[in-house]
Formats: sequence, structure tokens, C-alpha cells
Amino acid sequence: MEKVWWKESVVYQIYPRSFMDSNGDGIGDIQGIISKLDHLKDLGIDIIWLSPVYKSPNDDNGYDISDYKDIMDEFGTMADWEELLAQIHNRGMKLIMDLVVNHSSDEHEWFIEAKKSKDNPYRDYYIWRKGKDGKEPNNWESCFSGSAWKYDETTDEYFLHLFSKKQPDLNWENPTLRGEVYDMMKWWLDKGIDGFRMDVINFISKVDGLPDGEPQEGKKYVSGAPYFMNGPKIHEYLQEMHQQALSGYDVMTVGEMPGVSPEQAQLYTDEQCKEVNMVFQFEHVDLDSGPNGKWDLKPLDLKDLKWSLSRWQKGLEKAGWNSLYWNNHDQPRIVSRFGDDQNYHNESAKMLATLLHMMKGTPYIYQGEEIGMTNVKFDSIDDYRDIEILNMYKEKVEAGVPVKDIMKSIYVKGRDNARTPVQWNSSENAGFTTGTPWIKVNPNYREINAEKVVADSNSIYHYYRKLIQLRKQHEIIVYGDYDILHEDHPQVFAYTRTLGNEKLVVVCNFYGEDTTFELPEDLSSKHNTLLISNYNVEESEAISQIALRPYEARVYKLS
Ligand code: NOJ
Repeated sequence: MEKVWWKESVVYQIYPRSFMDSNGDGIGDIQGIISKLDHLKDLGIDIIWLSPVYKSPNDDNGYDISDYKDIMDEFGTMADWEELLAQIHNRGMKLIMDLVVNHSSDEHEWFIEAKKSKDNPYRDYYIWRKGKDGKEPNNWESCFSGSAWKYDETTDEYFLHLFSKKQPDLNWENPTLRGEVYDMMKWWLDKGIDGFRMDVINFISKVDGLPDGEPQEGKKYVSGAPYFMNGPKIHEYLQEMHQQALSGYDVMTVGEMPGVSPEQAQLYTDEQCKEVNMVFQFEHVDLDSGPNGKWDLKPLDLKDLKWSLSRWQKGLEKAGWNSLYWNNHDQPRIVSRFGDDQNYHNESAKMLATLLHMMKGTPYIYQGEEIGMTNVKFDSIDDYRDIEILNMYKEKVEAGVPVKDIMKSIYVKGRDNARTPVQWNSSENAGFTTGTPWIKVNPNYREINAEKVVADSNSIYHYYRKLIQLRKQHEIIVYGDYDILHEDHPQVFAYTRTLGNEKLVVVCNFYGEDTTFELPEDLSSKHNTLLISNYNVEESEAISQIALRPYEARVYKLS
């Protein structure tokens, strides 16, 4: 397997709106990010992924772009962005930008033109269809509730929007549009960025004829999903993008891909195929969803998590590469989700970090994860901001679902859990802003904040730092092969990593009760060195049978 920098790196995601506000308008901004770069450098971060900072009417917080080559006013100017890039590079870190080209904003100049008439030169940049029997062209649903089509009176046609009505899908069948995208990518690459995170990039190729979805779909995924996820020309487009935009630059790419299997991911990430370096898959973050999709709550079964993460580890072992993540701006906070943010906040956050960071792949840390930020429960729907939450709420209220049930699923799964402002210190608004924050701060900021964890050597933050340092010191953490141990243990997730004669053993108690774990004889008889653990462990402790405390995690190197 080829050794490259993006395999050896740790990525940190910044969601700019919620990261740090420098001018008191209540919205995070680029100067705010610059003021906190040392926090990331000290943590040991190599690469920053910046969620969209482009011009946008903010229907979906910047994932609806109205100008791909300009900066959103609330975030600053292009000069601010250039300073950010320089400051990141000065600290020896890299910057990858979000590339959102499945759709644009309806306020993008292309769409404004496209709407004018059927023969406008930009018409074909988007996906237009006639209605069928006075209704939408097909039964596809939007990922943000309702139909995926919006009627346009001027031309008596509908346009497709897989996300909000203000996010019309771009028509990748059109080579002129594709050329515009590649030019725009090169424009940013020439400014010196180090790669792209590609938003829902496996949605860009739609099946010819846009056939109706089957009635049994529309549960786990929206109706029509099989006709736009991993569509027929997706590999062709990604290879073309690679060849026309990316080749010639030493950059990294990660494609966000809902509904991708390990077999498909291997095709996308195999170095020979020249498409993307890694993908964000969703299998492990869909395990606590019932048959009716994300809002249908279901407790996580540890067996499923072991099965899923292991098949991704094995599936991309020989060719391809994994991304490793628990959190991002679309996912609830991991310590609240798979850990215990009440009784074992510190222990469970560290255990989950260990489990993920010792796997093979490139780890991603989402802002606030390193300080143990948790989910939030606002009493009123009026305190929520996310379009996905608000549309779903409206739809369910209209369907007669009791508000308390809707709120419960928002508390567990809502995207705003990840979007409350980063808790920097215990001063008002957690030090995020001197103004009124665009979304309320999590009320637990006096207990959980960056200042506090940086000062405490036993904190979640220092544990993340150590995990990152270990990755730099031990090649086996990057390149070693993965094998699960005692797959059937009901409470422990354990695995080994192997590189040449070296071995690592990772043992994680996934629950809040004590348990024991027996290491196979061939492992326990070797000399061991404890690399990291979230409890005090006697150096001389035998490891043939390990007594594990609640959420205890240990990593041993064997020789
Ligand atoms: C995935 C992004 O991560 C999410 O935040 C966004 O709403 C959709 N794609 C649409 O761009």
C-alpha cells in the first residue's frame, strides 16, 4: 500500500457559522477561525476541512451556494480567506475546502438565468421536466421532506431539488456545466488549497428517464434514492474530474457518499481508479435508525457496530482507504449518542475516541468533539435553526404526530446538536460571541469548555492530543492490518492491528458496567507496553484476563 501524507494525517472539521465570532454579530467568521488556529495546532491537527464559506443565502447554512468564487458576507472577505490560508500554511497545516456541486443555490446566477426561458443558455445547467398528469414528473422525495420537484410558472416546468427548494440539482449530463465545475475547482487549487471534501458527490449521476421510486423505498432513504445514489455515470464523472481538475496537484479528496457499500467504496478509492482518496460512508451512523429512517429511533446494538466497522476495515484493506469519523455538522454528538454524557462523560468520550482513532484510515475530528461537547435539548422548536429539522417538524405536526415524540427524535438525531456554538470558555455565550448567537449556546458551557479542558491534563482534549501523537509515532496505527477479537463478546469491542512483526491490541468496554476480557494466549504471552488508556493501569498488570471498568479503553503494543 502506497504511503502518502493524507493517510498519515488527522483532519479537523470547522463549521464556520458556529466556530468563533470575531465581530459580535453572533455568527462565526473567518477572523474568528484565525484567532483559534493555535488551538488546532496544539491539538496536533494536520488538515482543516472548512465547511462552505462561499456566498450563500443560507437556506442550508452555506450548502446552497450562490457564488462559488466569493466569500459569504457574514464570514468576511476574500482577503480574510487568503489570510486564513496563509496562517494555516504558516503553522504547517493544510486546508481542504467543501465542494458542493450536486446543487447550487436558486440564487446562483446560473439558475436565475436558467429560469428565464427554455432556450436560455443556462437552462440545461439544471434538471427540468414537464409535469405528469398535472403533478410532479415523478415521485422522488427531497432529503428535506416533501417532493423533490418544484414547479416554475414562467416556463411551466418543474426543476429537481434533492435537498431544499432553494438547492436546485445541477445537470451533470451537460458537459458545459461539468467544465465550469472543473474550472472553478482549479481556480481554488491555484489559490493553494490542499484538496476538497465533496458534498453528496455520489448523487450527481441520475438514472436516465428519472424513473419513479418503488413504494417500499422512501423509508430508510427517500423515494427515488436508488436512481440517484451511485448512478450509472458516477465513475465516469469522477474520473473526468480527476483528470481535468485534480491531476497535477498534490491534494487530498474525500467524497461524501450516503448509501455506499464497501465494495463500491473500493471502486471509488482504489488508487488505480483515480477518483477520490476516501469516502464518507454512512453505515455506522445509520445503525441507530429504524426501518423508517433517521427519525425512527432505535438503540445501537454493539454487534451491528462491530460488524459494520469491521467489514469496512477489511473491505478496504488491500485497495482503497477509509475515512474514520463519529461526528460532523450533520450528526449528533458522539458522547451523547454512543457514550454516556451524564455518568461517564470523560470515560466514554475517551473510549469512543480510542476505538475510532486506532483503526485504519484517516481520522476526522469535528469541532467541539475534542472538548467533549454534547447534544442539546431546546424546549421550543423556535430555538432550532436547521432546515431539515424545521421541515420534518412541520410535516409531522401536519400528519398528527405528537409534538413530544417529534421533539424526542430532534433531541437524539437533529443536526443542530452539532451546530451549537463551540464552547471556548465559561464567560457569557461560552466566549463564542459578544453578541447574540445565531443559535443558542448549549447551557452546559460552564462545565464543558475548551479553556477548562486545556488546563486539565486528564481531560478529553489531552487524550485526543495523545491519540494524535501516537499516530505520528507508530506507523502501525496508520498502516497495520485490522482484525477483530472475540466478535461475540457482548460488551467489549476489541481488535488487533498488525504490521510486519508488530502488533497492537485495542480493548474497549462499550458500556457503563464492569466486565472482563480474555486475550488469546498467543497475544497475552508477549511482552506488552501500554500506549494509552482512559483509567490508571498498573504497568505490571497481566493482560491474559483484563478486568475492565465502565467504558475503559486500553491500547497495548506487543513485542
Ligand atoms: C450534505 C451536507 O453535509 C449537509 O449539511 C447538506 O445539508 C447536504 N449535503 C446538502 O448539501
